[in-house]
Amino acid sequence: MLVNATDMLNKAREGKYAVGHFNINNLEWAKSILLTAQEMNAPVILGVSEGAGKYMGGFKVVADMVKALTDSMEITVPVALHLDHGTYEGCYKCIKAGFSSIMFDGSHYPIAENVEKTKELVAITKALGMSLEAEVGAIGGEEDGVIGAGECADPDECKAIADLGVNMLAAGIGNIHGKYPANWKGLSFETLEAVKAKVGNMPLVLHGGTGIPEDMIKKAISLGVAKINVNTECQLAFAAATRKYIEEGKDLEGKGFDPRKLLAPGTEAIKQTVREKITLFGSAGKA
Ligand code: G3H
Ligand code: ZN
Repeated sequence: MLVNATDMLNKAREGKYAVGHFNINNLEWAKSILLTAQEMNAPVILGVSEGAGKYMGGFKVVADMVKALTDSMEITVPVALHLDHGTYEGCYKCIKAGFSSIMFDGSHYPIAENVEKTKELVAITKALGMSLEAEVGAIGGEEDGVIGAGECADPDECKAIADLGVNMLAAGIGNIHGKYPANWKGLSFETLEAVKAKVGNMPLVLHGGTGIPEDMIKKAISLGVAKINVNTECQLAFAAATRKYIEEGKDLEGKGFDPRKLLAPGTEAIKQTVREKITLFGSAGKA
């Protein structure tokens, strides 16, 4: 059964660990992440970008697939199905499709418009028992067509959004989607501390979880980050394992071309990446 992300994130913030948000792209991704969370007894969030939702045949297909998988694989750890970087329209589509959680990314709007739209979605998600993530200060880089300027969040704007009653807040703190460039300056803990001072106990979300050094992850968690988003790292691990399989000519041996065999090393690589992240984030055994 799907749950909203509110409880798991409040517990994570209190317990000083973070719940992993892993983006899904298809059946292999969803199965790998769910099975690994179950194996590690960890709460988990499955993130779905609008592009990935479209790729999988629409949000309803995604919601039905994830619900069916949690039932048939007897997943008992808390699982939230969450729209990632949603548009205003995308949020309504996911509410209708049966997601348990949504992110409204209004960071590219003027703050007054971000506040207005987020406020409307707070009322709706509360009435439906769903959780809502909002964003202030754009995350840098590009994810699935969503391009962010990469500016650090204004703590007062964070407070204006947090006070609306959202359940989690993504604040730009120098984090970037995709691989970090060699000249990356690192996370701005100064911004994170200033945001925390304004929003109190609000669980904070760290996007762009791929490639952030372990010490920075731990420090961010100690300063109130309770949800960490990882997407690119699973994709890179999947691609590398699949490339190795093909370069070794295994697809040409026997029935090695069967997709169930061809996709197996990549699937294992996703599981291994998720295992490492859950361990690093400290959410193993917290279900
Ligand atoms: O919203 C999803 C993420 O922020 C993932 O970022 O692709 O850099 O891991 P990443
Ligand atoms: Zn993101």
